Amino acid sequence: MESALPAAGFLYWVGAGTVAYLALRISYSLFMAFRMWGLGHEAEVGPELGEWAVVTGSTDGIGKSYANELAKRGMKIVLISRSQDKLNQVSSEIREKFKVETRTIAVDFTLEDIYDKIKVGLAGLQIGVLVNNVGQSYQYPEYFLDIPDLDNFVKNLININVLSVCQMTRLVLPGMIERSKGVIVNLSSASGMFPVPLLTIYSACKAFVDFFSQCLHEEYKSKGIFVQSVLPFYVATNMAKIRTPKLHIPSAGSFVKAAMKTLCLESRTNGYLVHSLLAFIISILPSWLQFATFMNLNKSLRARYLKRTKKN
Ligand SMILES: NC(=O)c1ccc[n+]([C@@H]2O[C@H](COP(=O)([O-])OP(=O)(O)OC[C@H]3O[C@@H](n4cnc5c(N)ncnc54)[C@H](OP(=O)(O)O)[C@@H]3O)[C@@H](O)[C@H]2O)c1
Repeated sequence: MESALPAAGFLYWVGAGTVAYLALRISYSLFMAFRMWGLGHEAEVGPELGEWAVVTGSTDGIGKSYANELAKRGMKIVLISRSQDKLNQVSSEIREKFKVETRTIAVDFTLEDIYDKIKVGLAGLQIGVLVNNVGQSYQYPEYFLDIPDLDNFVKNLININVLSVCQMTRLVLPGMIERSKGVIVNLSSASGMFPVPLLTIYSACKAFVDFFSQCLHEEYKSKGIFVQSVLPFYVATNMAKIRTPKLHIPSAGSFVKAAMKTLCLESRTNGYLVHSLLAFIISILPSWLQFATFMNLNKSLRARYLKRTKKN
């Protein structure tokens, strides 16, 4: 009976300490959210970092919006994507609208032998910002062994989502380190934050991008380099096959405007307030429920896709 009293005192302090710690963490998160989205913080990202910004997958969706936002801040833009026609069009739009110089490099990031061409295209440029945006997901959610043309699919997805991030970083980072400044933005995904069955290879590739970014940030932050991992949920783009934006599915433009506010403040971000809230809610669910939710959602998307394609 007597020995229960000190134990109760100990438990009281453990409980009080835990509550105080959680209160501090929540207050800090709320303060940061208010600073970024409430006060309209604008990252100091512009030509002071280096006059050029390089954006991969920059002719559509999120990449095109990053190219526009960076040009708006006075940076010259190197656009790298697959189709030269789309590159020419986006390039002239940016030149006309923001009066900045642009360059284009047409390559297919599912291939491995493109980096010498990119190296030549970037030679001699002072690059302040690199946005590793290019990426590819599944046509529809599918069980690993049932993915059509599995061998090529695996190779393509790893090349475009993983190899591109490593190789582009290898090309651009040395110049940034020489000048002791630079920002690298890597587009991961919420499916790199939580394992998503039926999108297994994509989810694993995006987890790679997230870990790569976090580790690289730790390695080089003391040298003046800021590396950011961006982990969005759905954004209304061609890849997501969603045209109409909603509160929880922003347009690429709204998403990137919000994500730009987190630059140089958060090295790991969902980029958009509603997505941060979603991530918080999912992260407190038990993992069996997270898996069940994603699995069931993707099973129904898969069934719907297969039904539709059978009909046609
Ligand atoms: N949208 C989402 O819901 C979402 C959510 C989480 C993460 N993300 C990530 O955000 C990034 C951008 O996605 P997004 O939705 O903006 O995509 P998107 O609208 O489909 O745009 C993709 C861009 O990449 C280019 N591209 C595609 N395949 C290419 C290839 N093989 N070689 C070179 N360029 C290629 C496209 O150019 P062409 O038009 O010439 O093909 C286009 O400019 C990706 O890394 C994606 O994983 C997106």
